Amino acid sequence: MFEDLKAQKPDGILMLMQMYREDARDDKVDLGVGVYKDAAGHTPVMRAIKAAEQKVWETQDSKSYVGLAGAPDFNDAMVKLVLGDALPRDAVNSVATPGGTGAVRQAFELFKMANPGGRVFVSNPTWPNHLSILDYLALETVLYRYFDDTTRGVDFDSLIEDLKQARKGDLVLLHGCCHNPTGANLTGPQWDEVIKVLQDTGATPMIDIAYQGFGDGLEVDAAATRKVAAAVPECLIAASCSKNFGIYRERTGILMMVANGTDKGIAQGTLNFLNRQNYSFPPDHGARLVTTILNDDALRADWMAELEEMRIGMLTLRETLAKELEQRSGSNRFGFIAQHRGMFSRLGASPELVVKMREESGIYMVGDSRMNIAGLNAQTVPVLADAIVKAGV
Ligand code: LMR
Repeated sequence: MFEDLKAQKPDGILMLMQMYREDARDDKVDLGVGVYKDAAGHTPVMRAIKAAEQKVWETQDSKSYVGLAGAPDFNDAMVKLVLGDALPRDAVNSVATPGGTGAVRQAFELFKMANPGGRVFVSNPTWPNHLSILDYLALETVLYRYFDDTTRGVDFDSLIEDLKQARKGDLVLLHGCCHNPTGANLTGPQWDEVIKVLQDTGATPMIDIAYQGFGDGLEVDAAATRKVAAAVPECLIAASCSKNFGIYRERTGILMMVANGTDKGIAQGTLNFLNRQNYSFPPDHGARLVTTILNDDALRADWMAELEEMRIGMLTLRETLAKELEQRSGSNRFGFIAQHRGMFSRLGASPELVVKMREESGIYMVGDSRMNIAGLNAQTVPVLADAIVKAGV
């Protein structure tokens, strides 16, 4: 029977990782997969994570199962980190998941269980894996306009126009901060307008927040998510610890569900059920590290300080790149790079130019011209600026 399997469409981001590895050039520049890198091109284990690992190693006396929803103290700490005081704790149901992707997958499955015929509104563009999972689950997807190719900012009027087409029973997927892949984000007042549309249409928001702390800071980055969660009767929130704790391979994430008007036992029980069906107990090691950090004042302070160093480093790279491009191009048309936030910026180059920059200059960016800003350093910023101008972007 297996001979009937069809080849799956390759994932563009993962394919690029492979191509980069196979490129023998010494001066190649990796701006592909969304992984933070320091100036030496290394993805470090954060200091607080190392310290937490030692603490866990010294104190953990069992590896037995925790619970279907994950450890309660992890859930509490993460709900607090993401939602702050926006909602009372008991208004939020939650389950630990294997990474942010696990949370996204569970959220879509939950939606499908609740409303099999419902549509999912997704920004155009979005993280390609959103589309891929939706397709795999055979959920109907509606793209809403998001990115303005000319300004490289948000095409807000079109976004609102498209979101007004949503109706009760639809799910509207929004990126809480640091939009992936564009780096273009809504302002506070624009979020207020989106909330108004959600309230008017009765559609249910789902927020994917995978980069909290990478944009304007831990609190500012969570502000929109908090506002949305407090303003609507139902919402889903998928959060990842991969980036802001740097624990990519530990697969640590959480799905939160606000379901006012639904029996709490049923809401939480459905989340637990989904965990049981898909992988039973969620992984705990990364969750234990995160909880250890968030519940220890000194570790938390050190984690926040290092995260802030990473964030400022990415902002500085953005500003330097924008300046270098201004000098070379004699125009400020690349100023948007300094305005974007998070790990990514969509350059707005055609797929042909992306290939050209890869072949001629060893610059690896995703095919839609998404650049991982954290893949740069002081030496490679001018190399990239040269390549962009040389390619005629
Ligand atoms: C990315 O967008 O590059 C990251 O979220 C990594 C991934 O799994 O695609």
